[in-house]
Formats: sequence, structure tokens, C-alpha cells
Amino acid sequence: MKLGPIYLAWHRIMQDIIDELERKRTLAKLGGGQDRIDAQHKKGKLTARERIEVLLDEGSFEEWDIFVEHRCTDFGMDNKNIPGDGVITGYGTINNRIVFIYSQDFTVFGGSLSESHAEKICKIMDKAMSVGAPIIGINDSGGARIQEGVASLGGYAEVFQRNVMASGVIPQLSLIMGPCAGGAVYSPAITDFILMVEDTSYMFVTGPDVVKTVTHEEVSAEKLGGAITHTTRSGVADLSFDNDVHTLMMTRRLFNFLPLNNRSLPPTRETSDIPERIEMSLDTLVPDNPNHPYDIKELIYKVVDEEDFLEIQPDYAKNIVIGFARIEGVTVGIVANQPMVLAGCLDINASIKGARFVRFCDAFNIPIITFVDVPGFMPGTSQEYGGIILHGAKLLFAYAECTVPKITVITRKAYGGAYDVMSSKHLRGDVNLAWPSAEIAVMGPKGAVEIIFREESGDVEKIALREAEYREKFANPFVAGRRGFIDDVILPHATRKRICRSLAMLKDKSIKNPWKKHANIPL
Ligand code: HXC
Repeated sequence: MKLGPIYLAWHRIMQDIIDELERKRTLAKLGGGQDRIDAQHKKGKLTARERIEVLLDEGSFEEWDIFVEHRCTDFGMDNKNIPGDGVITGYGTINNRIVFIYSQDFTVFGGSLSESHAEKICKIMDKAMSVGAPIIGINDSGGARIQEGVASLGGYAEVFQRNVMASGVIPQLSLIMGPCAGGAVYSPAITDFILMVEDTSYMFVTGPDVVKTVTHEEVSAEKLGGAITHTTRSGVADLSFDNDVHTLMMTRRLFNFLPLNNRSLPPTRETSDIPERIEMSLDTLVPDNPNHPYDIKELIYKVVDEEDFLEIQPDYAKNIVIGFARIEGVTVGIVANQPMVLAGCLDINASIKGARFVRFCDAFNIPIITFVDVPGFMPGTSQEYGGIILHGAKLLFAYAECTVPKITVITRKAYGGAYDVMSSKHLRGDVNLAWPSAEIAVMGPKGAVEIIFREESGDVEKIALREAEYREKFANPFVAGRRGFIDDVILPHATRKRICRSLAMLKDKSIKNPWKKHANIPL
């Protein structure tokens, strides 16, 4: 059959469009050009596209808005345009579950955020919200596109507003894989988890130069806002890893624990770990001497499926341990006092760390298992001046408003206000269990005797007797047991079995808090 001239003309036009498409795609994929890509690699960083490839399931990425360009005409920007405008956006899958993603491209105008760049991010955030899928933002940016001025600031605020609306609706993860400075830090700060790359990423509100001008302090970018600073001192970041690939792989691991949104249940994973598994070694975990420490993580690892526990903020406020694990294949959140650090006392940082985690779990239907060995709140002027009253109340508030299944196991000390706070029966704990070594009391025997027998304080023998008497009377689980404050005293080796049964029983738990616009948690 002979092709007519109209068909040939149409074919030529189509071919031109396809060529233009390919040209634009190739240009976009090259970002800021090979030299800048090489510079990125030289710093030990992957490019924005390479990061997406590592993070998502192979071949699953669907890119949007590759042809978007900025609209700035000032400062010679009208003849500098790179398709995509410094951010790659779209969606794909992680272990076959949908996730939306944006990845800032430092090779294009330093990954800086223009109005168009912000619009691309907002577009996928809106879609993530409407379909109920998590969003992961990869940050590698010099901040507001300086040439665009206030248009860029508006763009940031549009992103912030969406971050806030998405909070508690879909999980939001931020990866900091390069600079993240100025007001730009507030988008990650609002999201649920921040993961940083050691040595190549930093976050600060004002950089070292401004710090020097204003406060005369000399500090490096790394010390001011590097991964170590934020995972050990400030608590801003949750996890950090030694390079891009490691960070991206750990993001996949974290993602696997999370539900897609606040209306769906946490994901389930096949496990061969049986619910009845007995762990005899737990019977000797708590030392005979109540003042000797032990590692609560040993209990966590031995109770959860396949010893698979992803600790969050492992290097910050180590006196409380938080993280995700699975029981019978289903995600659970773990909160545990750590007797190895500050004897497991609750201080300001531990309270905030625990509270934020409890609220995340509650928002996303993740049951919470709490292991308690807490001698109380940390005393001292620095804690009081720092507002331990308000911060401690955060943890109490978080547990009290929480409606997901709550299982509590008291392994040893549960003293004073901290007993109440740590998911006690009175804060709607669903199943509250205690080991035989539990001591549930207003305070430890020594402190109690010093107060109620102050007049005998000079008599060492008498005081020792009083202490022994107090210990026998109160330092056990039965006083609380008599009142029903704990549901049962269990043998440590049966902890996993009892937790599995409790979770199974609570599977369809449903309670509601009274209607309100929102609560007023002590911030
Ligand atoms: C436009 C930018 C840019 C920006 C970097 N570039 N930041 N372009 N707007 N904000 C460009 C550079 O001109 C350069 O272009 C390329 O990106 C790479 O930058 P370098 O400086 O060569 O890279 P490096 O030495 O690694 O330094 C990275 C950096 C530095 C530390 C991030 O670029 C920097 O200090 N940028 C400015 C940061 C800043 O002040 N941003 C505004 C913050 S205020 P060429 O063409 O030469 O390769 C802000 C307000 C947000 O963000 C408020 C939200 C509410």
C-alpha cells in the first residue's frame, strides 16, 4: 500500500515531537551536566536519579514533570533552563508498595528551590495524600533559589503547609543527603523520620558564617549540623549511615515496617518464628542486685520475631529505647527504659523521644509494647530549669491519648510518677504484665526509708532493717496485683508467648477519644 502525503507529513511531525521528547529527556537526565555529576560523585554522593534507582524497586519509578522549567527571567536566568528544574518527582514501589518521592538534584542550580521546583513537590504531595501513600523526600539543596527571591519562599511555605496536613495521615520520611539549610530545614522537621548521611549532609537554620558574625562562635558545618550532631546531641535526626547507598537501603527497611496511611493496618510479613517460643535465658536477665544494670535490648531482641528490631534514635537519649519490630509478622512499636543508661531514668530528652514515637505509632495504628524498668524522673536543677515538668508530661499525654493496643511488661522498677507514665493500667494500658522481679512502688526502698524514718537516720542497723522491711512489703508485683493494676505476674521466659496472645486478643480493639478540634499537648 502506498502512503499518502498527508500521512507522511503527519509522520514527520510525530517524528519531530518524538525527537524533541528524547532530546529533552536526555537533557533532563544529564541534570546540570557531566562535570557537575562528576563533582557530585567525587564528594561520595550519588546523583538524584541514582538515589531513586537504589531506593525504589527496580524499574518501578514513574517520573512526573520532567519537562517543568522555571519561569525566572532575572539575573540571566531566562537563558538557563534545565528540564525538571532541579528536582525529580514521581512515584514507584518499595517491596511492591506504592510510595511517592522527590529527589533534589544538586547538579541543577545547587538543587535550590524555585517556584516551579516547589510546585512539582506539592503536586506529588497532593497525590500522595489523595491516594493514601507515604512520601519520601530526598534533600540535597542550597535552599531558596536566590534569583527568584520571595517566589521561592512562597514555594517553601506551600510545602510546609502540605507537610502539616499530611502529618498523621501518611508517613513522611526525609533523607538529608547534602545541604539543607535555612528555613528549608522545617519541611524535614515536620516529617516523621529524618535519616542523614554521615560526612556529606548537614542541617542548620543558620550556617557557620552567620553563627560567627552573630555569636562570634567558630564552628564547622559538620559540627554545627552534621549527622553526628543531629543523631547524638540535638535529636533532630533519627538515624544516620555512612554513605548514600546504606542510607537508602535502611530507608527501605524502615519503610517496610510502616503502614501506607492512617486508615490502613501495618504490613504483615511471613515469619517462621512461633508465638509459643520460650526464652529460658530471660529468667536470669534481671540481676539479683536491684541496683545492677542489664541491657533491655536483650529482652527486645529475644521477644520479637527473628530478633529483627530497627532501633530509632539509637544514639540519642539512650536511657529510653524506641523502635520497630514485628510480632507474629505484624509491625509493633517498642518503647523500653534502658537500665544501662542513667539507670533508665526518664529525663527531658527521653520523654520527648518516647512521646513522639508513641504518637507516631498511635497515628498509624501500630500497637505499642512497653518494657518498664524505671526508677523515676531524673532529679536536678538542670532538668527542672529545662522544663522536665512539661516535657515529662508529653510522654504521659502521648500514652494517655493513645488508642492503639498497648501492652506493658514491668521487668523491675516502676517507681513513682514514672510508673504511671509508662503505659500503666490507669492510662488505658490494655494488658499490663509484671515479672516476679517487678517492684511497683512510690519510690525505691532506700529513698522511702530516708523519708518515713528520718529520725532513725543515724542508726545504720535500724535503717537497714527498715529498708529490708520496706523491700519485702512493697518491692514486689503483688501490691499492684492485688488492686488489679497489673493483670498477671508472668515468668520472664514466657514473655513472647504472653505478648503474642495479648496482641491477638486485641486485634480488633476499638476505643475512641472524645471529639475535639485537637488536643493541647504541652509543647
Ligand atoms: C541558586 C544556588 C543556590 C541557591 C547554590 N547554588 N545554592 N543557586 N540559589 N540557593 C548554585 C551555585 O551558584 C552553583 O552554581 C551551584 O549551585 C553549586 O553551588 P556551589 O556553591 O558551587 O557548591 P558548594 O561549594 O558545594 O556549596 C554548596 C552550598 C553553597 C554551601 C549550598 O552553594 C551555598 O552556600 N549556597 C547558598 C545557600 C543559601 O544561602 N541559600 C539561601 C538560604 S535562605 P554554578 O552554576 O556555579 O555551578 C533559604 C530560605 C528558605 O533557603 C526559607 C524557607 C522558609
